Amino acid sequence: MTTPESAVYPPSEEIVKNAHVDAAKYEALYAASLENPDAFWADQAERITWIKPFTKVKNVSYDYGNVDIKWFENGTLNVSANCIDRHLASRGAQTAIIWEPDDPNESAQHITYTELHQKTCQMANILTDLGVTKGDRVVIYLPMIPEAAYAMLACARIGAIHSIVFAGFSPDALAARINGCDAKVVITADEAPRGGRKTALKSNADAALLHTKDTVKCLVVKRTGGQTTWVDGRDYDYNALAQDAAGHFKPVEVNAEDPLFILYTSGSTGQPKGVVHTTGGYLVYAALTHEVTFDYHDGDIYWCTADVGWVTGHSYIVYGPLANGATTLMFEGVPTYPDAGRFWAVCEKHKVNQFYTAPTAIRALMGQGTDFVTKYDLSDLKLLGTVGEPINPEAWNWYNDVVGKGKCPIVDTWWQTETGGHLMTPLPGAHATKPGAAMKPFFGIEPVVLDPTSGVEIEGNGVEGVLCIKSSWPGQMRTVWGDHERFEKTYFSDYKGYYFTGDGCRRDEGGDYWITGRVDDVINVSGHRMGTAEVESALVAHAAVAEAAVVGYPHDIKGQGIYCYVTLMNDREPSDELMKELRQWVRTEIGPIASPDVIQWAPGLPKTRSGKIMRRILRKIAENDFGALGDTSTLADPSVVDDLIKNRAAKG
Ligand code: WT7
Repeated sequence: MTTPESAVYPPSEEIVKNAHVDAAKYEALYAASLENPDAFWADQAERITWIKPFTKVKNVSYDYGNVDIKWFENGTLNVSANCIDRHLASRGAQTAIIWEPDDPNESAQHITYTELHQKTCQMANILTDLGVTKGDRVVIYLPMIPEAAYAMLACARIGAIHSIVFAGFSPDALAARINGCDAKVVITADEAPRGGRKTALKSNADAALLHTKDTVKCLVVKRTGGQTTWVDGRDYDYNALAQDAAGHFKPVEVNAEDPLFILYTSGSTGQPKGVVHTTGGYLVYAALTHEVTFDYHDGDIYWCTADVGWVTGHSYIVYGPLANGATTLMFEGVPTYPDAGRFWAVCEKHKVNQFYTAPTAIRALMGQGTDFVTKYDLSDLKLLGTVGEPINPEAWNWYNDVVGKGKCPIVDTWWQTETGGHLMTPLPGAHATKPGAAMKPFFGIEPVVLDPTSGVEIEGNGVEGVLCIKSSWPGQMRTVWGDHERFEKTYFSDYKGYYFTGDGCRRDEGGDYWITGRVDDVINVSGHRMGTAEVESALVAHAAVAEAAVVGYPHDIKGQGIYCYVTLMNDREPSDELMKELRQWVRTEIGPIASPDVIQWAPGLPKTRSGKIMRRILRKIAENDFGALGDTSTLADPSVVDDLIKNRAAKG
């Protein structure tokens, strides 16, 4: 049964009573954050420790051609000192990170703040010995193991800039990212265990390093002890070096606007871009949102199931929680290994209080039945969160009823790699929730709904359009690495004077926000962003392919699947083998996460007379929605559409 859109779930009295922020406080703080952003954010900045105080809170221009975003100017700090050192006196013996391995029979680790300090300092010393200094780039290509957190924090301690590459990316994608930011060192592991299988990370890194500068060094963490080849003078053994590395390293003072990390993400055109986040504003925003959205209280056990290869892992596994002195759980595995009860087994085992995951995981588990959930004791859960894509009401209800037993508020957090932290979400003690709605703007966030054609703000409620943000917040990305022009063009050129999110949105009759999905050529596969242009350029790089067009289509588990229309070279014939080969080709070019779900042979693609591919039509065909193709009269050759429909129908 689908939930009526009018379903509203107010927070219980119990939750309101204990929450950091109730409705009255939200209203007061939200109003204050818009009326006087400088005062509001100066106040919030006190939650972190500065070396030198900032002299100006906000200095921002959204003027196209002149976009410049600065927060907490002239302030200095160190992120690693904020996430570790300042907690040592009061919580040195407290667990900072609970690490749960892929294999449930292997022991979990409880890493205290004191141990985190020691390990991070050792890593910082090792990286320094490899020549890494302030401002240098380090690529991290690791499984979800504690060393990933040590590596991030060690870079921050040195003032070096990390760029994490998700372990599901191919050697080619890794090489492009190493070269893109001109990294000095790559940190990897022998193998990455996941769902009982192993990915040979080191051999992927070896393959990538054939296409980078000879000077790039490779630091290798032992995870499984699996065999690796070794290049002397290039490869360094982390575990051996850590034996002799000192457990002290003085945090390097950096400026609030020095970059903390680069994270590559897909856009609607071209190759992935390096999103740059800086130090002071990012940390303030990650820490504040972590505390308020998840209503995190001292002593709580908090678990975000994301991978540190995505921004969610940066802000809500590592930086936000650790800045708040939290206990954060890091999980190496997948939701369905050894069976579909793993998430709930881990919640029971570690007495998890806040649990944050993605709709795609919920949908996958929901299909396996409720027994996998009900056999575990989930009584410690206080709050549930979701992120990555709009959550369908069926999944929301299952999460609410079966996992949360109707007593855990669900925070549906809408944000992006670019935003650093949550921009819209219900706050557990302040707002009612509605299945599928991101509800309310966070402090300091001014969402506006624009008419997509005129770019004019649509006022009032019960309206729909494109979602832009009117003014800056401290966690906002500052630039695209090495390409400020692309930054301005992507986010500030279509709708002048606003940050353009790329999402569509609706403000309902009650004034609450619903994200309707991307309005550009970005698709959302299992909560991960994929540029259709990237998959297309991978396909046309194959010798048999003349042309390719890629669109998203509805997929039960993934949200959207990758649908590829492929036109072959004249001398090539379609075959099942070729289809397999192309699928494998894309996996090699980009990674398993870009694996095409459907490949349809297309003798021709629908184009306008000026040669532009009409994706609107291709999307409708992929969705099996032939009645809504709209006007096809402007096509150069309308008959190609009939052929595409015939072949789509043949697929069932
Ligand atoms: C895009 C950003 C932010 C971390 C995960 C993805 C979609 C994200 C929601 C949500 C509806 C959502 C948007 C956004 N999205 N969260 N709660 N409801 N849509 O980060 O890869 O940068 O993707 O994910 O379309 O633009 P990302």
